[in-house]
Amino acid sequence: MPSGARRTPSRKGSMVDVPKDMLDQIKKLEDLFIVDGQKLKEVTNQFVSELVRGLGQNDATIPMNPTWCMAFPDGNETGTFLALDMGGTNMRVCEVTLTEEKGEFDIIQSKYRMPEELKTGTADELWAYVADCLQQFIEYHHGDEKIEQLPLGFTFSYPATQEYIDHGILQRWTKGFDIDGVEGKDVVPPFEAALAERGLPIKLTALVNDTTGTMIASAYTDPLMRIGCIFGTGCNAAYMEDCGSIPKIAHMNLDASLPMAINCEYGAFDNEHKVLPRTPYDIIIDKESPRPGQQAFEKMIAGLYLGEIFRLVLLDLHQNHECDFFAGQDISKLKKAYSLDAGFLAAIEEDPFENLSETYDLMQNKLSISCTKPELELLRRLAELIGTRAARLSACGVAAICKHKGWETCHVGADGSVFNKYPHFKIRGAQALKEILDWPENKGKGKGDPIEILPAEDGSGVGAALIAALTLKRVQQGQNAGIRDPEAMKKAAALASKAKPSK
Ligand code: GLC
Repeated sequence: MPSGARRTPSRKGSMVDVPKDMLDQIKKLEDLFIVDGQKLKEVTNQFVSELVRGLGQNDATIPMNPTWCMAFPDGNETGTFLALDMGGTNMRVCEVTLTEEKGEFDIIQSKYRMPEELKTGTADELWAYVADCLQQFIEYHHGDEKIEQLPLGFTFSYPATQEYIDHGILQRWTKGFDIDGVEGKDVVPPFEAALAERGLPIKLTALVNDTTGTMIASAYTDPLMRIGCIFGTGCNAAYMEDCGSIPKIAHMNLDASLPMAINCEYGAFDNEHKVLPRTPYDIIIDKESPRPGQQAFEKMIAGLYLGEIFRLVLLDLHQNHECDFFAGQDISKLKKAYSLDAGFLAAIEEDPFENLSETYDLMQNKLSISCTKPELELLRRLAELIGTRAARLSACGVAAICKHKGWETCHVGADGSVFNKYPHFKIRGAQALKEILDWPENKGKGKGDPIEILPAEDGSGVGAALIAALTLKRVQQGQNAGIRDPEAMKKAAALASKAKPSK
C-alpha cells in the first residue's frame, strides 16, 4: 500500500456483547495506552532537549553518534561496491553498481539466514559466519575471476561510536543480541581478520548504520529527503547536522558548515524514565530483557516488543481475575516469552470479519486458546491500542529532529518491517505529526503533508554502497576528516574506478 493511502475500516466492531467487567478492563487499558496530543508534545519537547544534549556531550542518554558520512549524493556517483547488511533475521550481501546515468544503479544480491543461536553465541562464530557469507557471495557471482579489491559498505545496525568511518566501538547490543566480548570494542579488526583469513579481496570502506544508509539512499533519488528512519525490530533515525552544531567534536576544528550525518540512536530516549508514559507491561519488558535500563523508547514502540507487550497484557488479564478471561483454558503456550510477534498483532488488526473469525483462528492455531466473542473484541481493541501508541510515539522522534533543525517541510525516508507491514502505522504517524506540530485540519493524512514520511530506498544495499562511494570520492579530493588511513583509501578509490561490474 503506498504511504498515506487510507483504508476504509472494513469492520464496524461492536462491544454490545461485552460484559461490564470486561468493558472496565478495556477502559483501563485505554487509559494506560492512549497517548493524547498534549502528551505527544511534551514527549517531543523533552526529545528535542535530549538530542541537543547528545550533540554536546559523550555520555548523554541519546548518543547522537557522528558517522563521518559527510555529504549527500549528487546522483553522479559511479563504481562497483559491495554492501553487507547484518540484520536481525537475515544477512544480505549485495553488489551495487552505480552507473553513469544520474541516480541509477544495478544490484545483485543474496540473502543468508542469520541462525538464531548466533545472536547469543561467541564473537568468533559471528565474524566467521559473516565472512563465510561474503566468501560464498564472491565465489558464486565471480567464480574464478581475478578481483583485485572491492570496497565494502558494512551496515552494522547497532550503536557504535565512530572515530573514523571504517571504525566502530559497539556501545552495547540492542534488539535482543547478546554476544560476549564485543561491547566496548572496535568491531572492525575481528571482522577484517576473518576476511583476511579467507583471503577475500574486500576493503572495508565504511561502517554504516541502517538509518544513515536509508537517508543517503533516499536522498539519491529525492532531493527533499532530510531524515532516514527505521521502524522495524528496532527504531532509530539519522539526519544531516552541520559540524558547527556538534559541540562534542569542536576540538577537531572542522569547518562549521560541513555536513555530518548523525546516527541518533534515539531508541535510548528517556532511559531515565522522565516523560514516556510507561505501563506496568513496559516495565516488565525492560526488566526481563538482556539489557535492563536501556532502549526505553525502543522497547515501547519497536517490532521486537509489540507482540510481547500484547502477550503480557493477556496474561495479566487471565491472572488478575478482574473479569473472566480465557477462563478454563490451557494458557501454557501464552506463558512463553516472546512467543507472539508484531505480525500477530498486525494480523489481528487486519481481520476484516465482523465476527473476528481470523483472530479466533490465530488464537487457536498459535496458542491453542478458543476465544469467546467478547474476548475477541478485547484482543482487537488491545492490538489497536498497542499499534496506535507505537505509531504515535514514533512520530515524536521525527518531530523532534525537525523542530531541532527548524525544518517545517521535508521528506523523511522510512524503512523497517513495522513501517512497511503494520496496518495503519503510516496514517497514525501522520496524524500524530499533525497534532504535535499544530498543522491545519486538512493535514495529517500522509500524502502532501508538510513533513511527509515516505517509503525509503534500499538503505543497507544502495545506501551503504553510496556511503562507500562518497567516502572514496572525498578522499580523492583531499578531504580526510574521519579517515584513518588516507593512503589505503586512495588506493581503494583507484581500484574501485577500475572494477568491472559483474555480468
Ligand atoms: C536499534 C539499533 C540501531 C538501529 C535500529 C534500527 O535501535 O541500536 O542502531 O538503527 O535498531 O535497526
